[in-house]
Amino acid sequence: MDFIELSEKRFTAKKFNPEKIISKSDFEKLKKILQLSPSSVNSQPWMFIWGSAKASKNRIRPALFDFNWDRLDTCSHFVVIAVRKSLPETYQRKLIDQEKADGRIKSEDIAKSAYEFRKVYIDLLDSRGVTQCWAKHQAYIAMTTLLYGAKAMGIDSTPIEGFNPEEMDKILNLDNYGFTSALVITLGYDADDDHNRDRPKSRWPEKDIFVCLDNA
Ligand SMILES: Cc1cc2nc3c(=O)[nH]c(=O)nc-3n(C[C@H](O)[C@H](O)[C@H](O)COP(=O)(O)O)c2cc1C
Repeated sequence: MDFIELSEKRFTAKKFNPEKIISKSDFEKLKKILQLSPSSVNSQPWMFIWGSAKASKNRIRPALFDFNWDRLDTCSHFVVIAVRKSLPETYQRKLIDQEKADGRIKSEDIAKSAYEFRKVYIDLLDSRGVTQCWAKHQAYIAMTTLLYGAKAMGIDSTPIEGFNPEEMDKILNLDNYGFTSALVITLGYDADDDHNRDRPKSRWPEKDIFVCLDNA
């Protein structure tokens, strides 16, 4: 399937077939897709909290708005994407160490300038009071890679903003770790009677959303 076809075929599942479970090996691939997501300055400010057991679903269920309960109750797996509320220097140093260990940064000189560059950028975000919001932007990128990656594997998904983050943070004790919840994604195989499956996509026409500056 090319990416256009994938984009046409992916849709928001409103209800899954609860009998169809994502295999362990496929879920490992979905985790890999999340791990490989790009992020600004390679910040990776995320943690992916996932589950498939009924008890795990029931644990996060009260944080979801009730119109989303069907997605959670019937899905095979769910992922909550949580993000760091701040990226302190200790975290930034750990990140450089990881990049060195992975061979992405090859010398101490490069490590020093990469550290400084990232620090200036994060300091700027901090000074504008937008670091947490920016971290959430990274969560949306990870979510999007997951939605399309899953569809490429024949797995359906629901992106979910319809939940109460304060309640989710409390349930998962995220505050304790300096994290806050950004998004929930439910995954599985769409139910035969999901009304959303065959609905046509509705998007603004190209002429209304693309502007070419070349001859302007
Ligand atoms: C960030 C985000 C949050 C969303 N939150 C929900 C949600 O809480 N519940 C739900 O059923 N759909 C949710 N959706 C699905 C959108 O309504 C859906 O993507 C949109 O109507 C376009 O339909 P399509 O995904 O089938 O192409 C969300 C989508 C995005 C991108």
